[in-house]
Parts: sequence; C-alpha cells; structure tokens
Amino acid sequence: MSATLEAPPVLDETALRCAGMQKFLGEGAARIQALRGVDLELMPGEIHAVVGPSGCGKSSLLYILGLLDRPDAGTLWVQGGEVSTWTDEELSHRRNASLGFIFQFHFLLQDFTAAENIMIPMRRLGGWSERDMRERAVSLLEAVGLGDKANRSSRALSGGEQQRVAIARALANDPAVILADEPTGNLDSANSERVFDLMRRLTHTERKALLLVTHNPAIANSCDVVHTMRDGLIVNEQRRG
Ligand SMILES: Nc1ncnc2c1ncn2[C@@H]1O[C@H](COP(=O)(O)OP(=O)(O)O)[C@@H](O)[C@H]1O
Ligand SMILES: [Mg+2]
Repeated sequence: MSATLEAPPVLDETALRCAGMQKFLGEGAARIQALRGVDLELMPGEIHAVVGPSGCGKSSLLYILGLLDRPDAGTLWVQGGEVSTWTDEELSHRRNASLGFIFQFHFLLQDFTAAENIMIPMRRLGGWSERDMRERAVSLLEAVGLGDKANRSSRALSGGEQQRVAIARALANDPAVILADEPTGNLDSANSERVFDLMRRLTHTERKALLLVTHNPAIANSCDVVHTMRDGLIVNEQRRG
C-alpha cells in the first residue's frame, strides 16, 4: 500500500507580532524613551487589552503597531510579513488593507453622513465602485445597529452612535487587525459596554485580532490577554483561562 502524503497542518498565522520594540520621542533634553523593548503577539480571534498609567507608552505602541510611526529598534510583523522590508507604497497599502483604527475621539468628518465616513477608507484602497462602497457601508452600519442612520450627518448622531460609526469605519476594508486607543474613553458606562460588546462580537465572529488600550477594568478583565505597561515596558501579561 502506498503511503499517503498528508498536507502539513495549516498554522493559525499571527495577526500582529513585535519583538524588542523601542521608540525615542522628543528632542535634546526633552528626549525620552517611550518604548524600551516591547514584545507582543496577537492571533486572529483574540482580544488583547493594554493597560497602564498615563504616559507609560500605550499610544506610542499603538501608533507603531498601526504603521503610523516607525520604531527606532525592534521588529514588527503584520500577518507574517516583516514591516521593515516593505516599500513605502506597500506600507501605505497595508495600513489601509490590514489595519483598522478606533480612537477615543472618533474623528468622523462632521459634515459627512455616517455612510460617507465609512466609505473614506474604501476610497483610499481603491478598486471599489461607488455603488459597492455604499452597499458595504450600509451593511456595516447595520452590523453596528445603525442601519437606519446611514444618510444622517455625523454631527446629528449621539456620542455613542458616532463611536459605533467609527467601529464600522475601522472595519471598512475588512482588516485583520483592529487597534483601538481608549475607544470607550468618552462614553458613559452603558454606551461603553455596548460599544465594547459590539467590538468583541465582531472580533470573534470575523476572527479579527483586536488590541485595545483601556482604563476600564471591567473591559480589560473581559479580554483574552491583558498587558500591563509601565514606563515603556510590558511588565505583566495575563492570559485568561
Ligand atoms: N511627540 C512627542 N514628543 C515628545 N514626547 C512625547 C511625544 N508623544 C508622547 N511623548 C511622551 O512619551 C511618553 C509616552 O506617551 P504616550 O505613548 O502618549 O503614553 P500613554 O498613551 O500611555 O499615555 C510620555 O512621556 C509622553 O509625554
Ligand atoms: Mg494614550
């Protein structure tokens, strides 16, 4: 009997990984080391929280992981690709195609409708017809419970609704990784919970990887992994069983 050749098992590829990440910020006497060697690994379907006091380097880390800033030392991989080997063109394509961002202050364009805001990242990526972009924007708004508000201008939405539009916008290009810097920081507790539940549901059902900075202990404790940062370093990493 001939031996059957078995295909090698498909390994779940890391969504985001960094090793030895360092970053210096500021000039002259004000120069500080914001990151002192950060290691992190996110798999698809996982939610990680980053917690730590103000000024410990959380936002600096997210900017680098989100390809919005470059590290001074260390290696970063996005979906297995080593970022330092990418051309500028590839870098900006990856930033749009693989990563979604949610900030504390949503940064929606206030004069644009909810749907138009979500179409902005799609336009940047290119290759979509106007009609397909609009259809996708509306279906993303439905996913965040705002299907009936697609044509409403952003300024006429509540804070919680605007943050849900920002989540839909982060998902516009179907990114593998979502980075969120205090996404519920300016919401009341009911809206925080609602927004976080939504992010968790979308992360798990669509097997995204989500890394979020939060000061909310209830949110941090319901993440799969909690990284505690202090003074530019991850000093503790706790994985829930
Ligand atoms: N552009 C900058 N120039 C100089 N220092 C900066 C700059 N941005 C941030 N910092 C400093 O870097 C450190 C880390 O900042 P940050 O990453 O924003 O912390 P966190 O998000 O945890 O509050 C802080 O000491 C902050 O003051
Ligand atoms: Mg910050």
